[in-house]
Amino acid sequence: MPTTKQRLSQANARWRGWLRQGWVKPVVFLAALGPALWMVYRGVSGHLGANPIQALYRGFGDDAILFLMIALGVTPLRRLTGWVEVVRLRRMLGLFAFFYALLHLVSYAGLDQGFDWQAIGTDILKRRYITVGMAVIVILAALAVTSPKAVVRWMGGKRWRTLHRLVYLAGFGAVLHYFMMVKADTRPPLEYAAVLLILLALRLPVPPLLKRLSMKTGLRSGNI
Ligand code: HEM
Repeated sequence: MPTTKQRLSQANARWRGWLRQGWVKPVVFLAALGPALWMVYRGVSGHLGANPIQALYRGFGDDAILFLMIALGVTPLRRLTGWVEVVRLRRMLGLFAFFYALLHLVSYAGLDQGFDWQAIGTDILKRRYITVGMAVIVILAALAVTSPKAVVRWMGGKRWRTLHRLVYLAGFGAVLHYFMMVKADTRPPLEYAAVLLILLALRLPVPPLLKRLSMKTGLRSGNI
């Protein structure tokens, strides 16, 4: 009769086996595309509510912040579980955060503002939450263009890692943008802020208790 530790260890090995399979990446890709396809379906079938344009750009904003948090969760997940295989999904998830942020920006600038660059420029300067959103888009764009392997090699690992630490700034910026924009219910952005703080804490050198716990449960077997 296997002990709990052995059972957890077997389950962990099974998960790692799945994560190594070739179909994982395409499946995650399709799942990540899901919110965009769902939005297209809602738009085409007239299910975007009384203010479809606002529903569209707000929806893409929600998807952008969600994917940013998911991408930020990859490293803590690897550290806690030892699933090194999840790291190969990180770049794609980060690019999806940028993709949804771009859709958010384009639907706002195009559908809401009719690509009136003067009005958009005034918005960026006058409405602080939009200034913050713009800064976040710029960071995400810098991370996206430097994500291909050839660029990583060209930049050198150290410089690349330093630049990519900005992803946390992007995370905090996105939460701030959301927080500054809401008028009544501040709970959703505060929940994202809590998630972000937890993810950041999990990146710190693992506290001995947590390390002992993950070793004891057989969740991971190497050094963290
Ligand atoms: C130039 C860049 C950006 C512009 C112009 C912009 C603009 C806006 C606007 C106009 C709103 C809705 C305000 C309202 O309806 O009263 C909004 C909401 C939001 N934005 Fe952005 N944004 C930008 C970047 C970002 C980025 C990079 C993210 C996330 C990574 C983001 C996430 C959100 C979220 C989560 C909301 C709230 C959605 C909701 O109400 O459910 N935005 N943004």
